[in-house]
Amino acid sequence: MSHAQNIQWFPGHMAKTRRKIGESLSLVDAVAEIVDARIPASSRNPELAGILAGKPALILLNKADLADPAATAAWMQKYKSEKILPMQVDCKTGRGLREFRPAVRQLLADRLEQYRKKGMEGKPLRVMVVGIPNVGKSSFINRLAGGSRAKVEDRPGVTRGNQWFKVADDLELLDTPGVLWPKFDDPAVGERLAFTGAIKDQVVDTETLAAALLAYLGRRYASLLQERYGFSPADIPLEEDDMLLAEDTGGTDGKEIRWGYAMLTAIGERRRMFISGGEVDTARAAAILLDEFRSGKLGRISLEWPEG
Ligand code: G4P
Repeated sequence: MSHAQNIQWFPGHMAKTRRKIGESLSLVDAVAEIVDARIPASSRNPELAGILAGKPALILLNKADLADPAATAAWMQKYKSEKILPMQVDCKTGRGLREFRPAVRQLLADRLEQYRKKGMEGKPLRVMVVGIPNVGKSSFINRLAGGSRAKVEDRPGVTRGNQWFKVADDLELLDTPGVLWPKFDDPAVGERLAFTGAIKDQVVDTETLAAALLAYLGRRYASLLQERYGFSPADIPLEEDDMLLAEDTGGTDGKEIRWGYAMLTAIGERRRMFISGGEVDTARAAAILLDEFRSGKLGRISLEWPEG
């Protein structure tokens, strides 16, 4: 189940979520934040770190099956250096999830030691699972808990509507109270969320979105485009002889988009997608490109790397 189609930004929503997460923090020992491994920065809510107020934290780089392993390794290093325990997982197949319970126990070793000293061994560790829509939060919870709701009716301080799931006798998960909104106001972030399908193709129209994605791929993953679509991005002319990277201050810049659009046309031609009159059906080519990227058919691709 994806909520991606339902995202509508209203400032009040984040305030409500912030309050609910804050209220529920005292009920858990740690927080597991799920991000999309292809866009670990853009799929994090920037306010979250402040809300979590130093709770022990794990970060799950989900959809690692779709991401570039080199980028994922770089992100893992970065989080380790920030004292956040990172894991790379694939909640579609369950890969990496066996490590979750041991990782939580490692993270909370001090707490377990306290329990042991007090004769409270076996007291469940409780972890709040947070993530913006579409990162795979439901898939994660379903995989780990098989949908089994924990019996928590008699738990003191339980916020009405909070959803608890039992992973094992000694591990329970709390689903995010409320919807954790992504950050929409930075165009580069919005664009990357749209590339992955995390937000509806509404930030820009599909053809522009596909052209922007192609411009990125043409720079970083030229060989994947060559393999799949049979053209070399280097052979697609730019209007001006300027192969410098577009500045990363906003979304993709106009010149890059034009270059991407030329690649989109090349894809349409090679796949023989024409509308009447022999014109290339770039709308269809855009839909196919986005689908092939999102499903991993193009290859393992990351859209963000640590440090720029
Ligand atoms: P959410 O609760 O955070 O909103 O996310 P959800 O679990 O609904 O997952 C969103 C989409 O991402 C789903 O695809 C899901 O299958 C897919 N997904 C989740 N984890 C992974 C992963 O590790 N790897 C890959 N490749 N995909 C993952 P969907 O298109 O909405 O549905 P469907 O394809 O499962 O039918």
